[in-house]
Amino acid sequence: MTTHPPHPPLPTLRPLLDPSPEYAKWRSEEPIRRVTIWGDNSPWLITRHEDARAVLADPRFSADATHDGFPGFRPQSPPRAPGQFFMMDPPDHTRLRRVLIPDFTFRRIEQLRPALARICGELLGAMTADGATTADLVKAYALPLPSLAICELLGVPYEDHDFFQRQANAFSSLSSGPKEMMAARKALHTYLGELLDRRAREPADDLLSRLARDRVATGEVSVPEAVGIASLLLVAGHETTANMFPLAVVALLRHPAQLAALRAEPGLWPGAVEELLRHLTVAHSGLRRIATEDVEVAGVRVRAGEGVLVALQAANRDPSAFTDPDTLDVRRDAAGHLAFGHGLHQCIGQSLARAELQVGLPALFDRLPGLRLTVPPEDFTLTMTTVHGVRSLPVGW
Ligand code: HEM
Repeated sequence: MTTHPPHPPLPTLRPLLDPSPEYAKWRSEEPIRRVTIWGDNSPWLITRHEDARAVLADPRFSADATHDGFPGFRPQSPPRAPGQFFMMDPPDHTRLRRVLIPDFTFRRIEQLRPALARICGELLGAMTADGATTADLVKAYALPLPSLAICELLGVPYEDHDFFQRQANAFSSLSSGPKEMMAARKALHTYLGELLDRRAREPADDLLSRLARDRVATGEVSVPEAVGIASLLLVAGHETTANMFPLAVVALLRHPAQLAALRAEPGLWPGAVEELLRHLTVAHSGLRRIATEDVEVAGVRVRAGEGVLVALQAANRDPSAFTDPDTLDVRRDAAGHLAFGHGLHQCIGQSLARAELQVGLPALFDRLPGLRLTVPPEDFTLTMTTVHGVRSLPVGW
């Protein structure tokens, strides 16, 4: 048994964009193996694409973090809050997730694209104002873009972003203890509870108002559940795309021929975004599940009560699913990648994330054709959260 406190290998600073080399070895030699994540919690690590899909689609694997021995991100996590459906199984998961479906359909998110383009234009305008030629891309673009988008969708005032970005970060930081997480949750839930109450009295055209009017008032979800749902979206909406975006920029700047292909043929962008999602797989901490019955995976019997960790970054580099998987190829058909997970819990925000990247990346490279990194990748500080990314990205143009 190998010990990797507190997680299986985290991404390395160099080469930064690739999963740790152990994953390739394990995938070919021991595609299901035990790892110790903390204390005596030793889930099975799954590294092959085929097995990852099978586990994530199998109802005998539960996402319910209240099970004894669940392989959570930390030895001590605060108890699950109402509405946090990503840690639930059906029927509660189904009931709560269903509430969001109308707001996250492909069509609904397509309608947000003009607003996203406007946001990008304004952010780029601010970034280049007064003849500026350098910026921290995370602060100036990669964080405000998803933040403004999720605020617009939810109906949360962006002026409060310093407050809720701090809470979102405390939630997902791997160094947060249960006390800090509880404090962040309390602050965020109080804030969102007041906002929900206000929207119930003065509805607007946003998700919080629809939650208040169509779901809480009808008794379909309780007030604490509605607050939990809103907080889940606010946190997930920040901590994912904001990390994906700078890594995508670094990847393209380090592969100038790929970037040149995109400049020459802008029609390649949607496929390039899928390839970047596959190649970078920012949800690097493994999707966590626990077996509720004995299940055979890759020839090994996983017993009821044993945890599993699905290593998406290893599955997305599996040569049996993707030819030459370590190569970034914007012309590749990356369909079937698992960057958004698979099965019941597959990312509900994926259309929004795609739209943000498909609008935000070309807007950036069009406006700043000379974009370059001003510090070497070795000097980047990684975000030590459940999602892989960099804290800041100094760029010039
Ligand atoms: C679930 C990745 C953007 C909201 C997930 C899961 C992954 C993921 C891997 C599955 C978790 C599991 O099965 O345990 C990503 C990536 C993103 C992104 C890579 C951006 C590049 C977003 C955005 C939102 C969002 C923008 C919100 C607006 C959620 C929610 C879930 C989820 C609520 C839980 C779904 C469920 O349990 O049914 N995401 N996500 N995500 N994501 Fe995302």
